[in-house]
Amino acid sequence: WFSTVEMAPADPILGLTEKFKADTNPDKANLGVGVYQDANGKLPLLPSVAEAERRVASVPQPKPYLPIDGLPAYNQAVKELVFGAGSPVIERVATVQALGGTGALRVGAEFLKSVVPGAKVLLSDPSWENHRALFTAAGYEVESYRYYDAAARDIDFAGMVEDLRSAERGTIVVLHACCHNPTGYDLDDEQWGQVIEAVKERELVAFIDMAYQGFAEGLDEDGRVVRRFADAGLQFVCSTSFSKSFALYGERDGALSIVCADADEAKRVLSQLKPVVRTLYSNPPTHGARLVATVLGDPELRAQWETELGEMRDRIKEMRAALVEGLQAAGITDDVSFITDQVGMFSYSGLTKDQMVRLREEFAVYGTDKGRICVAALNPNNIAHVAKAIAAVW
Ligand code: LMR
Repeated sequence: WFSTVEMAPADPILGLTEKFKADTNPDKANLGVGVYQDANGKLPLLPSVAEAERRVASVPQPKPYLPIDGLPAYNQAVKELVFGAGSPVIERVATVQALGGTGALRVGAEFLKSVVPGAKVLLSDPSWENHRALFTAAGYEVESYRYYDAAARDIDFAGMVEDLRSAERGTIVVLHACCHNPTGYDLDDEQWGQVIEAVKERELVAFIDMAYQGFAEGLDEDGRVVRRFADAGLQFVCSTSFSKSFALYGERDGALSIVCADADEAKRVLSQLKPVVRTLYSNPPTHGARLVATVLGDPELRAQWETELGEMRDRIKEMRAALVEGLQAAGITDDVSFITDQVGMFSYSGLTKDQMVRLREEFAVYGTDKGRICVAALNPNNIAHVAKAIAAVW
């Protein structure tokens, strides 16, 4: 049966980690995948999460199947974090726990097939590499709207709005709430206002992906975009993830929230999300959801987590500034201030595929072929090597 199966290409992001692990260069740096590492180059276990682990472990519990839509306390915590505690919007939101942001995107994609049959999906150009693969795998025709202008090193906002305004009614438009992946360029408040207008007037289906809440400015600041869509009276879809904000990558803690017109509609939508989940993976896992619900359900632990999240955010900003200095020290005279203009885990370097391959092969510095590097994986020990490597291929 399988003799004709061909070798699939490696994943453009996770495939780099496999290569990185096999690299024997002692100076190697994995700036491929979007994973935060601390100042010692280690994946952190946040102290708030460690405390939640202790609390969960101190009361050994059986492991039942969770409800199809997930742990109720977790879903409630998601709603409050995404839409704001006490927000009247919450009663018209259907939320299901999902397997990370990717799982949430896929559940949303499957659900939308019955709501807007035959709709196209529009992604930002560029977008997270898995967006295209995922929506294509779900059976959609995927196209893009203009977003990044490489020559200007800025957002092509006029192009973006023009593309949204010429999209057909019902088109699914995937938007990054904050920390745009891969470019690190976010829209400003005024621009979001225009996007909301376009979505409303053209009757588009906004699918807001928020995988990095808390990594740009703060939890509420980053969640503002989602709240503005809700306040504008729009019905839309929002995928969220705690992989990064809790450093719980392997627990697959995500959620899909669908903002409906009213509570009754939300009930019906939730009932339709359940068969999607049931036929994909039946119901979600318990442990990671318990950890997040424990942290978010305890005011002290939650405050501690917010501090820890702020520390990650600040360290990334420090590394951006240090990279600019490092590049200048390594002899680059071009303006590289774009690195500190960008926000979130990534910097879109503008380097070509050939340059990225050289970085990898000659210096063991791993970034994606599209020129994205994860600045959240820089630290005082690897930054000089990275800066020198970039300067050498510049
Ligand atoms: C990334 O873009 O590197 C992260 O979102 C991790 C992933 O799953 O690709």
